[in-house]
Amino acid sequence: MAKGINTIGVLTSGGDAPGMNAAIRAVVRKAISEGKKVKGIYKGYNGLLNEEIKDLTARDVSDTISKGGTILYTARCAEFRTEEGQKRGAEVCRKHGIDGLVVIGGDGSFAGAQKLANLGINTVGLPGTIDLDIACTEYTIGFDTAVNTAMEAIDKVRDTSTSHERCSIIEVMGRNAGYIALWCGIANGAEDILLPEKYDYDEQKLINNIIATRKRGKKHHIIINAEGIGHSTSMARRIEAATGVETRATILGHMQRGGSPTCKDRVYASMMGAYAVDLLCEGKTNRVVGYRHGDFQDFDINEALAMQKSIPEYWYRVSRALSI
Ligand code: ADP
Ligand code: F6P
Repeated sequence: MAKGINTIGVLTSGGDAPGMNAAIRAVVRKAISEGKKVKGIYKGYNGLLNEEIKDLTARDVSDTISKGGTILYTARCAEFRTEEGQKRGAEVCRKHGIDGLVVIGGDGSFAGAQKLANLGINTVGLPGTIDLDIACTEYTIGFDTAVNTAMEAIDKVRDTSTSHERCSIIEVMGRNAGYIALWCGIANGAEDILLPEKYDYDEQKLINNIIATRKRGKKHHIIINAEGIGHSTSMARRIEAATGVETRATILGHMQRGGSPTCKDRVYASMMGAYAVDLLCEGKTNRVVGYRHGDFQDFDINEALAMQKSIPEYWYRVSRALSI
């Protein structure tokens, strides 16, 4: 039988992502419109353990939908990985009357939510990461903004790369996931893309391709390198020495995590925030909200964490075919 929820807590955890504020705002306003109280938990699971918790009103989230970052701040919390930390987290929730919790973050944050669910706190996870690396969903909050930010930056590097007839290695975020690199590879028309999931570390192949594209009359050679492969600066030095083509490295870094969210990130994050509140109001727990086949859906956290996702082979092949 569904357990009645009175107070919904919300926190952001792990790396921040543009659109997290839209999700927080939606949680707050949808919950209030359902007659619930809302509490903001600051700095992720750290703030839960330190009881950095404040009531949130509909006005507290005014003027936030267009802002990057997260108004609740975010953190990584080693203590919450321990059983003791998790038990204490559940106690803090009970002490503050939080009987439903929305956790906005990635797989690690969902693992934390799963532990709280096992300890009797109703939890729902929302996929918040620029990396798009959550298996149960085709959309994650922040990816669209990040990939547009990276795309615009790469266009600029490409202009100067063409003027100087250079090779440019542009490093984008993604320690374990190549989705930003893949999308930019297609959107920016990169000659090469190096993805953690695919790169064979055969630098000679890259060098041969640069020489070949020069012979075909290309004025620049753009290599999009994912952070997980890294070493862009030393790679540039080696490529220049081997090809004779002037080569520069640009590391885009954390600028990809900031900035005003795109329309898509605002709208999808808002929908997901509202959906999470609906799930909690229905008495559901241990769920993750995802977007698949054109609609929002929810999944059991255990099942969601067991799902696998990989770079779609056809997309990769198309990106290669279009770079000739
Ligand atoms: P993300 O949520 O983006 O994957 P992390 O992997 O850094 O980011 O996880 C964020 C936080 O979630 C961690 O700092 C920790 O507090 C919590 N967390 C991660 N894994 C677990 C786990 N297995 N059990 C409990 N909490 C976890
Ligand atoms: O998960 C998002 C992400 O930006 C990754 O792409 C990147 O590898 C990581 O976070 C960087 O984390 P930090 O902010 O701790 O440097």
